[in-house]
Amino acid sequence: MSQLVSLNPEEMEPRDAYRLFLSIVAPRPIAWVSTVSKDGRLNLAPFSFYTGVSSKPLTALISVGARRGNLKDTLRNAQETGEFVINVVNEDLAPAMNLTSGEWPADIDEFAIAHLTPQPSVDVKPPRVAESPISLEAKVSQVVPVEGTSSTLIIGRILRIHLRNDLLRDNGLVDPLLLRPITRLGGDEYGTVGRVFSMPHPSL
Ligand SMILES: Cc1cc2nc3c(=O)[nH]c(=O)nc-3n(C[C@H](O)[C@H](O)[C@H](O)COP(=O)(O)O)c2cc1C
Repeated sequence: MSQLVSLNPEEMEPRDAYRLFLSIVAPRPIAWVSTVSKDGRLNLAPFSFYTGVSSKPLTALISVGARRGNLKDTLRNAQETGEFVINVVNEDLAPAMNLTSGEWPADIDEFAIAHLTPQPSVDVKPPRVAESPISLEAKVSQVVPVEGTSSTLIIGRILRIHLRNDLLRDNGLVDPLLLRPITRLGGDEYGTVGRVFSMPHPSL
């Protein structure tokens, strides 16, 4: 039988603990977040500390870390304008998504860098990524600094869902094998959707 390793993250190099943690909290979905600055500059960056948090109204959150003590453009824009769009990354879009994660200065438009098309949204100012199969328009409902950390949660109410109609099945669900989303694992590793199986909910 293999041995168990027990580690106290407080006694580890913070970077090592963080890297290990990221490979444990995995796979993570990726929110490819488009925002605009208050003077109208476009921004696009991926965030995998991302999850849905409420069903009514539909609400999602992303967690944004600090960059050497400075705010990332996504957080500044979301805070200043109160709006963002979450775009889904499929396998075809993986290289473009990766490009947009570079530490580009605030005046650089990541849509242009990655040769992506900004498509006007319906209910919010930030455009969606036209090439993305699904986009969620969101309005910021809360910006929550996480106590004792340099991370901030952006919580947003989903105002509108755009999705490619071939992905939607008769049961109202997106077909994951057609969508082919990528997920973030540890380090530079990514995953794709493997075997899909169903388990009916237990009826009591
Ligand atoms: C797949 C992926 C997931 C990422 N997830 C996060 C995350 O959850 N939180 C975060 O602060 N940065 C995350 N990053 C790093 C940001 O994308 C990166 O710092 C980016 O430059 C931020 O851009 P901005 O300054 O335009 O907002 C991730 C990068 C990649 C490639």
